[in-house]
Amino acid sequence: MKIAVLPGDGIGAEVTAEAVKVLERLARDGLAVEIEEAPIGGAGYDHAGDPLPEDTLRLAQAADAVLLGAVGGPQYEALPRPLRPEQGLLRIRKELKLFANLRPAKLYPELVSSSTLRPEVVMGLDLMIVRELTGDVYFGEPRAIHTNAGGEREGVNTMRYSESEIARVAHSGFRAAMKRRRHLCSVDKANVLETSELWRTVVTEIHREYPEVSLSHMYVDNAAMQLVRNPRQFDVILTGNIFGDILSDEASMLTGSIGMLPSASLDAAGKGMYEPIHGSAPDIAGRGIANPLATILSVAMMLRHTFSDVAAADRVERAVERVLAHGLRTADIYVEGTRRVATAEMGDAVVAALE
Ligand code: IPM
Ligand code: MG
Repeated sequence: MKIAVLPGDGIGAEVTAEAVKVLERLARDGLAVEIEEAPIGGAGYDHAGDPLPEDTLRLAQAADAVLLGAVGGPQYEALPRPLRPEQGLLRIRKELKLFANLRPAKLYPELVSSSTLRPEVVMGLDLMIVRELTGDVYFGEPRAIHTNAGGEREGVNTMRYSESEIARVAHSGFRAAMKRRRHLCSVDKANVLETSELWRTVVTEIHREYPEVSLSHMYVDNAAMQLVRNPRQFDVILTGNIFGDILSDEASMLTGSIGMLPSASLDAAGKGMYEPIHGSAPDIAGRGIANPLATILSVAMMLRHTFSDVAAADRVERAVERVLAHGLRTADIYVEGTRRVATAEMGDAVVAALE
């Protein structure tokens, strides 16, 4: 199996280095992996003048799976939009046709006091957001900042979903629900948006193929509220690109830290790109204090979804649980009475817990 590792910017390099340690440890036990690194995002721009250099895209296309760190940094913010780091990420998702983005939010009991919500609200939380990743207002045309007929500047983006785009991610959502508690909540804004009206219709049609799954619909504003009011009502949340972007950041905080949450972005064949849902965190980059667990847990998702190696995936997830149970914490999840460790120390501890 070939894995393309794209560390990206900021803390991306620090956290992917720890995840690679885990992969190398598994390789010593017989997991057949070949790892190659390439720049993306600001690093791609610095290296080749392009946030998604051609060589990087080719490597990712040839790989069985991609492990990505994070992209972005203040030094790139003034670049023209096509050259900004985020475009590298959006383009690789689009080029690899990674339309189904799985973002689980699970509370580790040891971290209950790191959540800003009361323990009785979040204890036992285990939900999954299935976010559509290659459509919506992120990619819809026309888009521009132009001068309108009235002579003033106007920003334009287009929210757009075709029936087939909705259907394929709906299947991903229902299949995810079938492997879990069999509840799917589809989130939209059908009271205002035509895009959402079609979304709701198509999801309801696809539901006929999954009679064991119970389907509900919720408006996105209500979903944002329900996530902090009573998040345990959710099993799988299925939603579009921009709503999923926003709700998944919100859901991450229920678990104590965005530094804990992995994600998988899958194409129709199950090929995937795996990345922590957190960003490049320029404010703490280079200090060796970032939490590598989201990236390490992304490796577990890779083992599960692309390599179908459930045993190895379980092994990595158990190692993370063990390290947390031993009281090791990076700064983002540190509370009194635990042991604060650096990024590399956390990675080493997970590797040791794999033995
Ligand atoms: C995410 C990020 C990206 C997105 C940005 C960096 C383009 O926020 O993966 O959630 O909006 O999809
Ligand atoms: Mg986001």
